Amino acid sequence: MANATFKIVVLISGNGSNLQSLIDRKITGKRSQYEITAVISNKSDAHGLERAKAANIPVVVIDHTKHDTRQDFDTELIRVIDLLSPSLIVLAGFMRILTAAFVNHFQKRLINIHPSLLPLYPGTNTHQRALDAGEKQHGVSVHYVTEELDGGPVIARSKVHIDPEDDAESLSKKVLASEHLLYPQVVSWFAQGRIKLKEDKVYLDNKVLPSHGFTLKHTLRA
Ligand code: GAR
Repeated sequence: MANATFKIVVLISGNGSNLQSLIDRKITGKRSQYEITAVISNKSDAHGLERAKAANIPVVVIDHTKHDTRQDFDTELIRVIDLLSPSLIVLAGFMRILTAAFVNHFQKRLINIHPSLLPLYPGTNTHQRALDAGEKQHGVSVHYVTEELDGGPVIARSKVHIDPEDDAESLSKKVLASEHLLYPQVVSWFAQGRIKLKEDKVYLDNKVLPSHGFTLKHTLRA
């Protein structure tokens, strides 16, 4: 595996803190074997673009407002991603609903991070919804992307406790911190060939994972 490069493309729409965590690769002190070959944003003012440039990663902006239909936008996105021929397409705060054509084109190579313990709270506003429901725990999930919104097979998750004093903002900070540990770890597993999807079941090191994926404990940062 030494020096093997596993090419990933990261899609963002905003701040890009998850992108930063993928750039930083702080995983138990080991180097991971993936390389971010490009960062693509649908917004030209996404702060994540600055993060990519600071790390000398090529950036591409594909502005969705310049495409008449969702399908046109996704067709252009497919064209650009295919030119880069990545092994994995990593959605990191990419706030677009993707067409079936896009999702099917990148089947088994497309993953997303979502701020809830899926299948709970797909969609938006997850932190407030968890609080409103009186949950004691919340968290983050990394999953394969399928046609169903936030509904594809879950690869891994991290839990956070909800404290009585938490509001949506404090909870979102806690969840983001766990996102930054979880995503680089999962992408590294892909780079090491340790994750497989067979008949909608996720395998880590050839062992089938439960439907909620591998639960990562918060012990990674040395
Ligand atoms: C993250 O919390 C991510 O889980 C969420 O957007 C945020 C992006 O933050 N994604 C979704 O809600 C997708 N359904 P970032 O731009 O700082 O990485």
